[in-house]
Amino acid sequence: MNHSGAIGVFDSGVGGLSVLHHVRQILPNERLIYIADSGHVPYGDKSPAYIEARSLTLTRYLLSQGADAIVIACNTATAAAAHALRVKYNKFPIIGMEPAVKPAVAATKSGVVGVLATVGTLESARFAALLEKYAGHVKIVTQGCPGLVEQVERGHLTEADTRRLIERYAAPLLVQGADTIILGCTHYAFLAPLIREVVGADITLVDTGEAVARQVQRRIQIELPHRLSAGAKVEFFTSGDTEQASRIISGLWGEAVSVLQLPQEFL
Ligand code: DGL
Repeated sequence: MNHSGAIGVFDSGVGGLSVLHHVRQILPNERLIYIADSGHVPYGDKSPAYIEARSLTLTRYLLSQGADAIVIACNTATAAAAHALRVKYNKFPIIGMEPAVKPAVAATKSGVVGVLATVGTLESARFAALLEKYAGHVKIVTQGCPGLVEQVERGHLTEADTRRLIERYAAPLLVQGADTIILGCTHYAFLAPLIREVVGADITLVDTGEAVARQVQRRIQIELPHRLSAGAKVEFFTSGDTEQASRIISGLWGEAVSVLQLPQEFL
């Protein structure tokens, strides 16, 4: 039977907008519902149990609003919560994301790949399994980046303090010979121009936003074949301050949007 649905997307904050951009490009006629969990950002230093609880709550809200497919636009939340979400909401496509180790390993010529990600992602069992599966003989150098997510949340994409953090986190990767760097956190996609300036033109930067959007398209076609689009529309919610979220999200999204507060029970 035909039904109309929407794609629910969430992240700890505004980072997942880098994925949402690709989803909108590939699926321009979809209704998209985005939650920035800014009241709980960053996820990178929270326990897996905390992130799992937030992910379940946000997913419950997205489904209550008509979503029938969920995108975890966050590497940290995927590592901590994708399994629990798939068990609890097993009738819905749940699309997660993880650092793009496989394409980076294919791209490197020096045999050294750097990974910039949150501490939560790097310490997860899921990331260890990913390396086990795809690293092969390539040396993987990882670097947690405390403070970088907060800079993106403030909209500080080009400021000197952001550049200093990037210089500090990129240096060990470059020193060890990385010629390919994975942006393993959705927030960092917004810092790609600054990261490029810091690391130089010869380094390959690998982001997963577009691949995730293609995966969303595929999963919807296969798993929800009778679905009708509910019409091109993007709605934004936050668990944080709505004025701040509206300002920052409008800047990153590229058009003026107003961000609504999640209802109390989802905060
Ligand atoms: N954007 C998220 C990711 O992809 C996490 C950021 C955070 O630490 O909150 O990992």
